[in-house]
Amino acid sequence: MLYSVSIITNKYIKRDIQMLQNLKMRHAELTDAKDLYQWRTDPVSVSESLNHQVFTFKSHVSWLKKTLKDPDRSLLIFIDSNGHSVGTGRADKQGSHYLLSWTVAPDVRQQGIGAYIVKMLVKRYHPSKALILESNKASIYIATKAGLNEIKRIDGIVQLESR
Ligand SMILES: CC(C)(COP(=O)(O)OP(=O)(O)OC[C@H]1O[C@@H](n2cnc3c(N)ncnc32)[C@H](O)[C@@H]1OP(=O)(O)O)[C@@H](O)C(=O)NCCC(=O)NCCS
Repeated sequence: MLYSVSIITNKYIKRDIQMLQNLKMRHAELTDAKDLYQWRTDPVSVSESLNHQVFTFKSHVSWLKKTLKDPDRSLLIFIDSNGHSVGTGRADKQGSHYLLSWTVAPDVRQQGIGAYIVKMLVKRYHPSKALILESNKASIYIATKAGLNEIKRIDGIVQLESR
């Protein structure tokens, strides 16, 4: 019995590692508007974001159009081997550093994708920082694992910066 559990576990671990190794990254396009809107307005994303405001799809499309033209903002989309979009990462140039943020598609969370996205962001955008709600333990954990250090906590917000 234990033996078969270990085979199943190994199978899942192998599948997950392979899935993460096959993730691709590209810049966002206007055709990503629907996915980005769905991920951002999912109830968990709304409650874990610094800005809890829920906005309309129309205002989201205006935001995306502006974002795609902004030289100081990079919006990336992560794609799995089946061509499905699974998450997004953003880097905003603010003076000498980049402010990072990220979201994983609700149906593929807890599979290591968030950790992968943050690792890629920290590698690509340096020096970087992130502002995360104290309650968002998973994001604090994956940011720390990716190399960001907690600098301070103010009013329930944790500030982390690259080493
Ligand atoms: C937060 C979020 C990005 C995580 O993505 P994910 O793909 O589910 O995360 P991963 O599977 O890569 O890893 C989550 C890790 O956090 C850990 N974790 C989860 N809950 C935790 C908790 N309460 N305390 C500590 N660690 C926790 C998990 O154990 C996992 O670590 P492990 O792989 O070493 O076991 C995703 O849930 C999301 O998109 N949330 C909504 C949007 C959001 O919060 N964005 C960030 C704003 S800065």
